[in-house]
Parts: sequence; C-alpha cells; structure tokens
Amino acid sequence: MAIKVGIAGARGLSALMGFRSIEGVEVTALCDLDADYLDAQARKYGIPHTYRIFEDMLATDIDAVVIATPMQLHVGQTIAALQAGKHVLCEVTAGVTMDELWWLKETVEASDKVYMMAENCCYIPENQIVNRMVEEGLFGTVYFGEGEYIHDIKALAIGNRRNPEKTSRTKTWRHYWQLGKRGAFYPTHSLGPVMKWFKGDRIQSIACMGTGWHTAPEFRQEDTSITLCQLESGKLIKLRIDCISNRPINAAYYTLQGTEGCYEAPRGLGDTHKIWLRSMGDKADQASWRPLSDYTRYLPDRYKQASAEQQQAEHGGSDFYIVHDFIDAIRNGTPPAVDVYDACEWTAVGLLSELSVMNGGRVMEMPDFRGANAYKDQIIKL
Ligand SMILES: NC(=O)c1ccc[n+]([C@@H]2O[C@H](COP(=O)([O-])OP(=O)(O)OC[C@H]3O[C@@H](n4cnc5c(N)ncnc54)[C@H](O)[C@@H]3O)[C@@H](O)[C@H]2O)c1
Repeated sequence: MAIKVGIAGARGLSALMGFRSIEGVEVTALCDLDADYLDAQARKYGIPHTYRIFEDMLATDIDAVVIATPMQLHVGQTIAALQAGKHVLCEVTAGVTMDELWWLKETVEASDKVYMMAENCCYIPENQIVNRMVEEGLFGTVYFGEGEYIHDIKALAIGNRRNPEKTSRTKTWRHYWQLGKRGAFYPTHSLGPVMKWFKGDRIQSIACMGTGWHTAPEFRQEDTSITLCQLESGKLIKLRIDCISNRPINAAYYTLQGTEGCYEAPRGLGDTHKIWLRSMGDKADQASWRPLSDYTRYLPDRYKQASAEQQQAEHGGSDFYIVHDFIDAIRNGTPPAVDVYDACEWTAVGLLSELSVMNGGRVMEMPDFRGANAYKDQIIKL
C-alpha cells in the first residue's frame, strides 16, 4: 500500500530519512506557519507541496501526518487529523491539559486510524539492550528505575532562533507551556524508556517536590523537580526534570535496579553505560561494573543490521525506527509502539505533578486511561 505523508512543524523533518527509506512511502507535503522557512525547507528537501494552514494540508490526499508543532497544538491537530481520516505520529508530549488527554483517548478509540506518540528515547540503542535483558530476566525482578532530563532550555524561551535580530525579546511557546509550568512538564523522555522496562504495569500515583527558584526566578518552573511514580505493583520510578540550572546537558540518564542486577547510564566525563549482574559472580563493589557494550548481542536485530545512514539518524538512529514502527502499524496493524494509553499516562505524570508540587508534594492518583471511563471518573482525585 502506497502511503503519502505530510509533516507539520519543522522538527518533523527529522523523520524524513526514515520515511524515504521505506518502499512505497513518500513525504509529499510540508506545513509550517513560517512561510520563508517553509519554502526554504521544502526546496532543500525536495518536498513538492507546502501549506501554511494545517487544515489545508489535511484536505489533501495524504494518508498520514507527523505533528511536530508546539506542544499546546498537539491534541487539537491530532483530533482534526484523525477526523479527516489520517494516521497520526505526534511529537511529545501528548497534550497540555487533562481534559485534552480524555478528548485524545476518546477520539483515538472512535477512529480506525493509527495514533502513535513519537517518544524517541524508547529507541535509544542502550535502552533497547536493557529492555531485552529485562525481558530475558537477567536483572531478576525489576523494582526501581530512574529517568532524568537535564537540559538548560532557558535560551529557547525567548527569541526566534531563525530570526534572532527581529525577535530577541519575543517570548516563545516554550516560555509559557514549558518554563511557564511547575513540576515535571516534560516527563516522557525520562519516563518512556523506564516504563517499557516495567511492561504490563501502570502508574498509579505520583508526588512531586521542587527546589524553588534560585537560578532564573523569571520563570515559573523551579530549578529542579523530583517526581516519584508509584506503580500499581508497588514498584517505584524517580524522575528528575531540570531545564533551568546552569550546567551541562544530560537529557538521557536512566537507571534500573532488579533483584539480580542493575544498570546505570553515564553521568558524563568519560563515564559509560554500565551494568552489574549477580550472575557475573563478581563482588558488588565499584570495580565490578561492566560496560553495557559487552552486551550488544541483546540489541534487536534491526539495530545490528542498520546501515551507517540509519545509525546516523537523529537521536542515535531512534528517529529512523520510530518511523518504521509507525508505518508497520499502518500497514500491518501492529500495535503502535507508544499507543494512546501510554501517551496519556506518561503525559499526565507532568500534569498531575504540577498540582502535586503546588500542594506540598501531595500524592495524586493517576486515572487509568485504559479503562472504559465514564465522565464521572474523568476527574483529578485529591
Ligand atoms: N522528541 C524530541 O527529542 C524533541 C526535541 C525537540 C522538540 N520536541 C517537540 O517537538 C515539538 C516542536 O518543537 P521545536 O523545538 O521544533 O519547536 P520550534 O518552536 O522550534 O518549531 C515549531 C515549528 O512549528 C511551526 N508552527 C507553529 N504553529 C504552527 C501551526 N499552527 N501550524 C503549522 N506550523 C506551526 C513554527 O513555525 C515552527 O517552525 C514540540 O512538541 C516539542 O516538545 C521533541
């Protein structure tokens, strides 16, 4: 089946190479409000049709859309696209309010089209190795995981990177919908891969505390926040989100602890991905870590067979595999790698964390998006 794809928002072009590598898939349309940028990108990448207005692109014969516009547009555009009969691959996060997440779930359930959230960190090769090792029981029973997203984005909140002279004082969407929020406003990169290691479980409650405002008090977002997610099984995940502190980036730090071993991502300065397993027979001391690279045999086959071009796709090749899974879901009915239920739950951690941090770290109950939810249950329980 030939598939025509339209991309909305410049960031979505990171998916271009992936689409072009699949037979019968074509990116035929690009949409962006910024007319100069739209024309320049369409020319650069040879995309035949351009649209400034998203709905105009939906009115064409495309089969699928990538939504890579600012976060606060995701749900509205996803609903419009599904209702126009298009499959949707949407950037993170899924939405910006709890109401929106219910609208999204209901629309996806009523649609026969694919919705997948493009959480690329799940596809980081090291996270995939750990995933396979969890599945094969090498860590025993896993019961604790961590994810950290440390990325100073203050500079992205003001001015337009493409036109810095004209817009040096203009506040961008990130000023409001990211740094204008409290708590873990951007949780999915940290949470997604870890939740994949706790397959079959779900987040039941969360609590969030922050440091207060020391670095950049002009933003509502505190320097750092820590969110604890208690799973239905009683297991625990800890998130740290820090998009304010003055420090080097570490946007993909993860750990996992099980009864038989543990994994830690690098902290920087020569550090490496490392694991320790009881089955190694080593004593549990600092010297007995082994590099995760000793375990690349647990990488999925498609990663081992990837071409040099695929490996160079953005985010360690992740953007390539996301696109393949999305097309597989469209063509073969494979369940989307990150479906609407994961998308809503992981996104809701951020939305509930805002209420938690504003109420002294109060524990907030996570609704179960997977159920048949009556309106009376679509509430934020205090
Ligand atoms: N997965 C990742 O690693 C990752 C990384 C960065 C950003 N993101 C996500 O990608 C999305 C975009 O982020 P960004 O950094 O590219 O933002 P950006 O502000 O740099 O770019 C957004 C683009 O969308 C366009 N746009 C805005 N409103 C539009 C509309 N109504 N219709 C069509 N185009 C419109 C803008 O002109 C701009 O070109 C966000 O949701 C963000 O959370 C994800």
